[in-house]
Amino acid sequence: MGSFAHILSIEDARKAAKRRLPRLLFEYIDRGAEDEISIAANRERLDAIELAPSVLIDVTGRSMAAELFGAVQPSPLIIAPTAVAGLVWHDGEIALAKAAAKAGIPFCVSTQSITPIERIAAESGARLWFQLYVWKNRQRTLALIDRAFQAGAEALVLTVDTAVGPIREYNLRNGFSIPLKPSLRAGIDVALHPRWTANVMLRALLTSGVPTYAHYPDEFRTPIGRKSLSTEVDLAPDVTWDDVRLLRERWKGKLILKGILTVEDAEKALAHGVDGIVVSNHGARNLDCAPGPTDALPAIVAAVGEKLEVLADSGVRRGADIARFIALGAKGVMIGRATLFGVAIGGADGASHVLNLLHQQLSATMGMLGARELSDIRLA
Ligand SMILES: Cc1cc2nc3c(=O)[nH]c(=O)nc-3n(C[C@H](O)[C@H](O)[C@H](O)COP(=O)(O)O)c2cc1C
Repeated sequence: MGSFAHILSIEDARKAAKRRLPRLLFEYIDRGAEDEISIAANRERLDAIELAPSVLIDVTGRSMAAELFGAVQPSPLIIAPTAVAGLVWHDGEIALAKAAAKAGIPFCVSTQSITPIERIAAESGARLWFQLYVWKNRQRTLALIDRAFQAGAEALVLTVDTAVGPIREYNLRNGFSIPLKPSLRAGIDVALHPRWTANVMLRALLTSGVPTYAHYPDEFRTPIGRKSLSTEVDLAPDVTWDDVRLLRERWKGKLILKGILTVEDAEKALAHGVDGIVVSNHGARNLDCAPGPTDALPAIVAAVGEKLEVLADSGVRRGADIARFIALGAKGVMIGRATLFGVAIGGADGASHVLNLLHQQLSATMGMLGARELSDIRLA
């Protein structure tokens, strides 16, 4: 366990990340939107789900293996796309991808990654998915997904729950906005976290330069914190099912819609020829009156689960939470904040430690449930 011997849970990793990161970055990762009702509701809903233990079953050789999109992986996890993971640790996206590779699970690269997908592919050896935010300029968006395909992305994950920017007041108070507004408070915050400043900002300046959104076209790219030089790469507020059609025609790999919460939308996704969906409320970071994915999953799985690969995320902090999503019918589960906390405290090793904790906890939960494989996990 090395230097992570004292990190026994995701909450331990969260607390350690809180000490390590400037407040403006920690809160950007950790918190929700508006009154943060959904973030607490996600937790309460997960906590309320009980699983049925079957006793006197030999669980010696139990397996967490999952088959997703025709490929078998050792566990049902996928590292979720998280913007600016590269601000949490030097080359943070590569660190996350290395941890994913070690665990044999896919890493989903965000459109708003600091590290370009080509470098992540070359330096991590991970199976990659690519998350897409559609830009106002659709031709440039198509060029971006061509680039992701060339780099070896197996799946395109179109995020459909972020039609507009969310309201997060603490980001404004902390001075974490784009464009960044220099403030005394933000300056003191950064100055009080010299380990982060040395590991992330100084190393960036000495190697690749001031962090930028790596996937933006060269001519529009500005340092993180400044406004983009063109509105062409602003997130489009007019993304519709026509865009799904366009992407389906162009993208030759698996196509996944992330952020579905109703049966109607899941059925539309199926009708548009997508391969999978992620039932998610974006980790309660966007719509503060959203239903929880745990509430939405059973009906969605009943409606489309035979034809689409149904994944889920939002709120996983324990192996038992993974088991809960699986019991509700999810085939795979994305992990957002937990692995970011891991990478914040120790790069790839920290992220691997967090994945190991989640795997150990899932294995223990399965053992006590008498579940030899994921499909044995049942609701109480
Ligand atoms: C700091 C941060 C940045 C995120 N950025 C993105 C993103 O760029 N695209 C996206 O589709 N989802 C993004 N998400 C949402 C995650 O992909 C995922 O849905 C969510 O974190 C799952 O909830 P959890 O953090 O409780 O595991 C982000 C989440 C966090 C915490």
